[in-house]
Amino acid sequence: MKEPLRVGVLASGRGSNLQAILDASARADFPARVAVVVSDREGARALKIAAERGVPAVFLNPKDFGDREAYDAAITKVLEAHQVGLVCLAGFMRILGPAFVRAWRGRVMNIHPSLLPAFPGLNAQRQALDHGVKISGATVHFVDEGVDTGPIILQSSVPVQPDDSEETLAARILAEEHRLYPQAVRLFAEGRLRIVGSRVIVEW
Ligand code: GAR
Repeated sequence: MKEPLRVGVLASGRGSNLQAILDASARADFPARVAVVVSDREGARALKIAAERGVPAVFLNPKDFGDREAYDAAITKVLEAHQVGLVCLAGFMRILGPAFVRAWRGRVMNIHPSLLPAFPGLNAQRQALDHGVKISGATVHFVDEGVDTGPIILQSSVPVQPDDSEETLAARILAEEHRLYPQAVRLFAEGRLRIVGSRVIVEW
């Protein structure tokens, strides 16, 4: 059998998307494994989740590096040491610089809690409520030089209810995130994603 794809997850916080990928990869038929988790926050729950699962968990303190490029290079070093073939940003709240994006182009995914290109950046659920949209959702996309831009891999929509708060909408979207991210990782690992210009062709 083919060796599973080695995935590196970058996470800054709660780690529920990391958890979803770990849960999926615990299944024997899942074609990927989490090889390492890297965080820019020492107290990130994501690091604890990784450690509990026996996955190497690395805290890289941005303050220990002179600039973004040096920090990003340190991340690359960790990812390479763990022979990572796919990088998943899962609530990683730092912008990765152009050198990192170039080095990993087509091999870095991000998940975002809106139907991109609507509502990129911070507080996507708040933005959706402020605009009064009736539908929002989750997007998994390849990372390019922009913020939450880049070729879209998968999306899933959820209704926005009239009485939604940021929290209730976020929870409804999060359930879709947990379904979509492992699915996108699987498609990548199975070689079924092809980037053509600004689009991703999914071979189902
Ligand atoms: C998720 O909702 C993810 O979509 C969002 O951060 C949350 C992380 O949750 N990411 C962004 O907003 C990126 N622009 P998690 O730590 O529980 O996976």
